Amino acid sequence: MALLDIENLKTYYFLPDSIVKAVDGVSLRIEEGEIVGLVGESGSGKSTLGLSILKLVPPPGRIVEGSIFFKGRDLVSLSEKEMEKIRGAQISMVFQDPLTSLDPLMRVGDQLVETIMAHREVSKSEAVELAKKYLEMVGIGGERFYDYPHQFSGGMRQRSMIAMAISTNPSLLIADEPTTALDVIVQAQIMKLFEKLRKELKLSIILITHDISVAMEIADKIGVMYAGQLVEFASSYEIYREPLHPYTKGLMEAVPNIELADMKLHYIPGDPPDLSNPPIGCRFAPRCKEKMDICEREVPPEIRVKDRFVRCFLYG
Ligand SMILES: Nc1ncnc2c1ncn2[C@@H]1O[C@H](COP(=O)(O)OP(=O)(O)OP(=O)(O)O)[C@@H](O)[C@H]1O
Ligand SMILES: [Mg+2]
Repeated sequence: MALLDIENLKTYYFLPDSIVKAVDGVSLRIEEGEIVGLVGESGSGKSTLGLSILKLVPPPGRIVEGSIFFKGRDLVSLSEKEMEKIRGAQISMVFQDPLTSLDPLMRVGDQLVETIMAHREVSKSEAVELAKKYLEMVGIGGERFYDYPHQFSGGMRQRSMIAMAISTNPSLLIADEPTTALDVIVQAQIMKLFEKLRKELKLSIILITHDISVAMEIADKIGVMYAGQLVEFASSYEIYREPLHPYTKGLMEAVPNIELADMKLHYIPGDPPDLSNPPIGCRFAPRCKEKMDICEREVPPEIRVKDRFVRCFLYG
């Protein structure tokens, strides 16, 4: 049984005069201890998918269809009360900007202790010990326990958010653009930290990023989102060796390669569609270099190619 098994998930935002189909029929599986990178342009629905798993989609958004099986239970059908037991305790999330999630008036250590005590049956002194242990696990010395968030660098704040997220001992961590605000060196350190945590804690991680090269470095598998849909899902190695979907190919060509003399910056011309009124056929067709007649008329199905899949008429 997969740890997480999402089937045909649809999450829409109901605006006064339109419906934004932010996640529109996504199916995705994650095994225990696996890191899955979720990549795609801004507005493709990555955060909405992450929030859907925790059932934290803000109104006017809501899940309209599909299922999210986590350890065999469908989260979509759970009540808010039951979800509260799963959130944090079993599935945690790390957000892009740690300052919005850390309380500036509270010492970092105390925030950790509070989180631990809310989710685990431990005494105050045990919680303090655990808090120090988790700070050390993410590379922050236990002596920084008494610091306030403003005394931390950006990278340390992000590390303390990660410490907070794992301190409840979850099985799944959803990290939404956890390093976008950080420089590349700190970014690489945080990615190393995720790898370490996966190994030490058998943690499964969904890493949301717009940067496919970051995802490829640490993810076992990569899901490529385009306009609310998953257009390709495969191992990082297969994506690297042979991307199938024309959109994935475009993303890969856009990765700068300093070893090549050709330093031309590649990009994918055009813009993603309006999600309240997407094209009838393939959503990528208007920007696709390999477009055929059928692409503008019919919706491509998910085509299995060995143990990966691609949503494109070029295959199958
Ligand atoms: N609260 C909201 N109300 C209305 N529409 C929303 C809301 N949040 C997101 N959307 C819309 O849903 C679509 C998907 O947005 P989402 O934030 O999930 O994309 P994303 O892939 O995470 O983008 P980014 O890379 O910029 O974070 C977009 O069209 C966005 O405008
Ligand atoms: Mg986002």
